[in-house]
Amino acid sequence: MKPSSKFWLNLGIDLGFVHFIEQKAQSLLNSEKNAPTNIHSINELVTALSEGERTTYNQIVRSIDIPIVEFENFCSWASDCYTRNCVFEDEKFELILLCWEPGQKTPIHDHGGEECWVKAVQGEFEEVIYKLDDNDELNLVKSDISKTNDITYMIDFMGFHSLQNISTERSMSLHLYAKPIKSCNSYDEASGKLINRELVYSTFPESLEN
Ligand SMILES: [Fe+2]
Repeated sequence: MKPSSKFWLNLGIDLGFVHFIEQKAQSLLNSEKNAPTNIHSINELVTALSEGERTTYNQIVRSIDIPIVEFENFCSWASDCYTRNCVFEDEKFELILLCWEPGQKTPIHDHGGEECWVKAVQGEFEEVIYKLDDNDELNLVKSDISKTNDITYMIDFMGFHSLQNISTERSMSLHLYAKPIKSCNSYDEASGKLINRELVYSTFPESLEN
């Protein structure tokens, strides 16, 4: 029998965390039942995500085996900031290819309450994770390196993070957000505060252009 919300609250355990664990457990069960074969194209990936549900997304992302040349169709580059190139978007999820010049970095940000998977398509990234303390100050929790084909995951109760291309070459990362994220809280270096930032695409795929 599933314990009630009161049971977890009495133990001092955050209900968001309980929900997350329940979702992940369901995801593991689903992935065993419906493990997709490897995904070899962006079209196959979009189809798998469209036909799947959030609990299967973890397994789907781990099945990606798409040649780099497919991602090159969505690339754009800018010297002042990494670019966010929309690969696909609907009401359920969005797929974005981020293109990074060496050294480019995101601000520290959260994910608007949504789930986020990042696959390093090419290059090497540093992810730094922070948590807010009781004084609303961001404290560094840990940092990790992602190499080509590594996958990372974030959701707001895990904290905030920043990503940086630490390789000496241009790099690409594929981001899956479920649901799409229209805005997020992001650390503003100038004011030293978190501000709500609207998220925009640098480019759209042909099918979304009008
Ligand atoms: Fe992020």
